[in-house]
Amino acid sequence: MVRAVPAIVRAPHLFLAEVTRRHGPVAAIPLPRTPVLVLADPDGVRRVLVENARGYGKATIQYSALATVTGPGLLAGDGEVWKQHRRTVQPAFHHGSLEDVAAHAVHAARGLVAEADALPPGTPLEVLGATSRAGLEVVGHTLAAADLSGDAPLLVEAVGRALELVVRRAASPVPAAWPTPARRRLAREVAVIDEVCARIVATRRARPLEDPRDVVGLMLAAGMDDRQVRDELVTFVVAGHETVASSLTWTLDLLARAPSVLARVHAELAGALGGREPGWDDLGKLPLLRAVVDESLRLYPPAWVVTRQALADDVVAGVAVPAGTLVIVCTWGLHRDPALWEAPEEFRPDRFLDAPRPAAGSYVPFGAGPRLCIGRDLALVEEVLVLATLLCERTVRPAGPAPRVDALVTLRPRGGLPLHVERLAPS
Ligand code: HEM
Repeated sequence: MVRAVPAIVRAPHLFLAEVTRRHGPVAAIPLPRTPVLVLADPDGVRRVLVENARGYGKATIQYSALATVTGPGLLAGDGEVWKQHRRTVQPAFHHGSLEDVAAHAVHAARGLVAEADALPPGTPLEVLGATSRAGLEVVGHTLAAADLSGDAPLLVEAVGRALELVVRRAASPVPAAWPTPARRRLAREVAVIDEVCARIVATRRARPLEDPRDVVGLMLAAGMDDRQVRDELVTFVVAGHETVASSLTWTLDLLARAPSVLARVHAELAGALGGREPGWDDLGKLPLLRAVVDESLRLYPPAWVVTRQALADDVVAGVAVPAGTLVIVCTWGLHRDPALWEAPEEFRPDRFLDAPRPAAGSYVPFGAGPRLCIGRDLALVEEVLVLATLLCERTVRPAGPAPRVDALVTLRPRGGLPLHVERLAPS
């Protein structure tokens, strides 16, 4: 007998959007054990993430699942420890460090172009794999301003495999405590992660902090213990790798299917760069490309939901929220709400170009309030420069129908995304 897969497992992003359509943007669902609030309302989002952020914690299924791999790092952790750690690592994400990120992004994109060029003529590039490798390179370098002696790729790959297993476990009907083969594999991957991190930390302990961009050095200088440093390192890989890869992948797909926008991007790049490679100083000269990234993050927000647990009773956009409620901020639904966006399903970068910013709480690809993504500026610099490097000499063309969306840890194209990456004809 074929068992029907429930909609919430098959396409959870569409399931939540349907809850919003049926019950409104502040939908209280009084489930017996844990009441749930599905939120796709700008005022409600501001209440939970910004105005009363301290009234909400991160003890949710989403973050507990991630914490099996990350431990209680910045993303999954809470309270005083979170506050101290955020303060400690913040300097590594300041403006000065982003210039290095720009150089790494250009280098990683060159690798992506070389990968496409090495394919037999007419063979499409599997873009998700290629952007993942590019993202991996950037996050690997960003983890420490200096080299990690080959350990960064090992760490990033083990984290990737562990996350796959966590996602599968979340969708599995087998009780969480049962030692299935997948769970034994997860334990093995976590052991690999622990071992690589222990090596990275031991190497770093032997050296004084010389560079304020060195995030491991910053953590050690602040007196964080080995376990805490391990958790934050893994958190950066989890939070910073797949998100960027997902976003770059969808952006390239959107551009490949919108030739008129793509032509304008090529014209912008030709005007700004005049045939040379892009760099840090060019970021301000590429407003359309930046708008393309903003619009892609609206349509395909990699972090398609953000969850919280109400620590005390609250009222959200006029709806009573009892303590213990699981609040699901449905970024996917919010970003595609016809009451907030004109033609929400259409790819229109111009809505972010020379236009007023979207109303507060209506556009939150990086979250909002005190828990706003620490890597937001890094991700934007990385994305714009990877795209600029790729598209200044190449163009993209679809190799098949538009892919379906799998809403996992991030949004992924089901079955991958093949695109033709071709040399740009001289104009
Ligand atoms: C938090 C999205 C890239 C590190 C977040 C949150 C979102 C988000 C929505 C808030 C989660 C919440 O409130 O519960 C994204 C997207 C990215 C991206 C869409 C790329 C397009 C990065 C990068 C890094 C990073 C590149 C680091 C290298 C983090 C960390 C947090 C976080 C550490 C937790 C911050 C805290 O709570 O203090 N991200 N992120 N992210 N992100 Fe990102």
